[in-house]
Amino acid sequence: MAPSFSDDYTHFAVKKGHGVKGISELGLKALPKQYIQPIEERIDLTKVLNKESIPVIDMANLDDPNVADQVADAAEKWGFFQIVNHGVPLDVLENVKEATRAFFQLPAEEKIKFSQENSLTKNVRFGTSFIPKAEKALEWKDYLSLFYVSDEESSRFWPSACKNEAVEFMKKSDFVIKWLLQALMQKLNVEDMDSKRPLLMGSKRINLNYYPTCPNPELTVGVGRHSDVSTLTFLLQDNIGGLYVRKMETDAWIHVPPITGSIVINVGDALQIMSNGKYKSVEHRVAANGTNNRVSVPIFVNPRPEDIIGPLPEVLKNGEKPIYKQVLYSDYVKHFFRKGHDGKETIDFAKI
Ligand code: OGA
Ligand code: NI
Repeated sequence: MAPSFSDDYTHFAVKKGHGVKGISELGLKALPKQYIQPIEERIDLTKVLNKESIPVIDMANLDDPNVADQVADAAEKWGFFQIVNHGVPLDVLENVKEATRAFFQLPAEEKIKFSQENSLTKNVRFGTSFIPKAEKALEWKDYLSLFYVSDEESSRFWPSACKNEAVEFMKKSDFVIKWLLQALMQKLNVEDMDSKRPLLMGSKRINLNYYPTCPNPELTVGVGRHSDVSTLTFLLQDNIGGLYVRKMETDAWIHVPPITGSIVINVGDALQIMSNGKYKSVEHRVAANGTNNRVSVPIFVNPRPEDIIGPLPEVLKNGEKPIYKQVLYSDYVKHFFRKGHDGKETIDFAKI
């Protein structure tokens, strides 16, 4: 049933499982007011640097030491880069995007079974916006968030419309993720990579994001300004575009153009903390789109919830002062999810 009054849209989207996709399909002329963002949070195209772009790194020859140099350089100076020739097969990428569309195409009654309230497990969560209860204005996005425990658990609890494709994407990405982290750690003089791996990539979460066509895209956002709480994020986007990254230490933004077959990589807060600020987790946001639906599939490569994260001893060895304290990773993540998106403020939680 379509809602009839403005305030019912939240109920329709959030409680009934229609999401913003359901609102989009009502064909409204105007954006419901809950989704209207304050002016300063909307994307101002005059602040977008059209001539600049984040680095694109060719991973075809991993024996070439230049590749590791470029990765570390991009993680320091941009916090964001794209990789091409990374070895994840194109059909694996296509399949997980298609599976994302298939999941969101399901009727609301099917999707709502995976909401926080109804889901049989806390590792599977279907939702809309970011934290509707905590946000001043809602975001124009629906998502399915899947915390990976094991193949068996995924097969049992993840939605059948997308579980095989999501697991396959994670599996096929594992090699290049390990390689990237190893390159980044070598530049920090970490020698014993094997012992660091659980801390750097001991848990993974994959999100399937759906950004439906929006009646007034200029008044809202798909995702508001934030940095990720991951170690690294490994993001697949389709060919629509709309992801903007802050140019470090400026108030300007850079668009991340879709490149077929590429993956967008960004440093998350956990890696900024562990590297004592050498690698930067940079703010980013997603525009809403007036003519197209968009999907994206980030894999968040994370420490384990029970890990204590802080500047690595190897980084502090030469007498460098720590700028972050040791924090329990699950406390850090809880802090992130207690509030709406607020740019880089999350990391203050770990500042000394
Ligand atoms: C995120 C995110 C970007 C995108 O999910 O954290 O920043 O392009 N997504 O969907
Ligand atoms: Ni993000």
